[in-house]
Amino acid sequence: MIVLGIETSCDETAAAVVSAERRILGEAVLSQVAEHRPFGGVVPEVAARAHLAHLDALIQKAMRDADVDFGDLSAIAATGGPGLIGGVMVGVMTAKAISAVHRIPFVAVNHLEGHALTARLTDQADFPFLLLLVSGGHCQLLVAEDVNVYRRWGTTLDDAAGEAFDKVAKMLGLGYPGGPAIEQAAMSGNAKRFAFARPMSGKPGYDFSFSGLKTAVRLAAEKMPAGAFLAQDVADLAASFQAAAVDSIAKRVKNAVSRFKDEYPNGKSVVVSGGVAANTALRAQLKATAQQAGLDFIAPPLRLCTDNAVMIAWAGIERLRKGLVDSLDFKPRPRWPLDPSATPSIGAGVKA
Ligand code: KG4
Ligand code: ZN
Repeated sequence: MIVLGIETSCDETAAAVVSAERRILGEAVLSQVAEHRPFGGVVPEVAARAHLAHLDALIQKAMRDADVDFGDLSAIAATGGPGLIGGVMVGVMTAKAISAVHRIPFVAVNHLEGHALTARLTDQADFPFLLLLVSGGHCQLLVAEDVNVYRRWGTTLDDAAGEAFDKVAKMLGLGYPGGPAIEQAAMSGNAKRFAFARPMSGKPGYDFSFSGLKTAVRLAAEKMPAGAFLAQDVADLAASFQAAAVDSIAKRVKNAVSRFKDEYPNGKSVVVSGGVAANTALRAQLKATAQQAGLDFIAPPLRLCTDNAVMIAWAGIERLRKGLVDSLDFKPRPRWPLDPSATPSIGAGVKA
């Protein structure tokens, strides 16, 4: 079984060919970070145009590397949402055209399911597992029970985790994307200089919130004497912010881990995915939390944690195996919760 996957829901245009034997046969990715940098964030219209301009060539490259023809494919999978709708439409239309011309099944993949199932490709994670999805557009705690079966326990009440890193970085003049810049600056900073309250501290449950912390950082920065704002101050603010954000996320995961142990005694692992999973401090805390509870900690390699088409192709394989194919009248979905019974998230971004 061989599937071509297409990802166009945010600022990465990507195509990949993956086999059911967990082999990545071909892969091509084009990041649009440089195109969006002058704006300090992803501009949907710019993203959609860039996907349109580059997707065909990326598909050709992935297919060439894999040394397969369209006729060799068992299916073609594309991100069907959630995401920036212009980009999702480009990917879905392209996949449908290939599906129609070559008469191969089309699978519309929920981008979040792509992130969720990556650990099954890379580490053969068994269901059920607890998943922390932390990216620029999403911040959720989910239980993956099976392909297509997810329970959402927590989400963000305001910003996504990566979005908070990006906004604080912008505030501190550290550039875009903010996560890596904050982490870099934090290395030479004193995390104890600013005692920011840990968001959601003392509150039960699994939801996240970052807007209060963001405001606290802004207020602290504004208190600095004008003209005497040094690189060390920026580093200390970055380190103190990162420590508060990471502590808060880790505590919510800890809460979820104890419930997971109770409700899923056969569950074995905690999985993290999304761009914020790159954060070393976060990884270290999550690993400790999982291991203290006797669970494995799985963090797929970073290039498969951030947006990519390998995860979409793999989710396509998992869905195809279950007979979950879509018809050509599938409509791209800007919002598409993995757990339809969960209450809609408030103010959370649409990208993933
Ligand atoms: O999954 P991703 O590549 O794209 C989507 O958001 O869909 O995640 C990107 C996000 C950005 O907000 C970026 O600032 C954040 O991940 N990020 C980090 C780090 N590296 C990337 N956040 C914290 N620490 C990092 N080292
Ligand atoms: Zn994503």
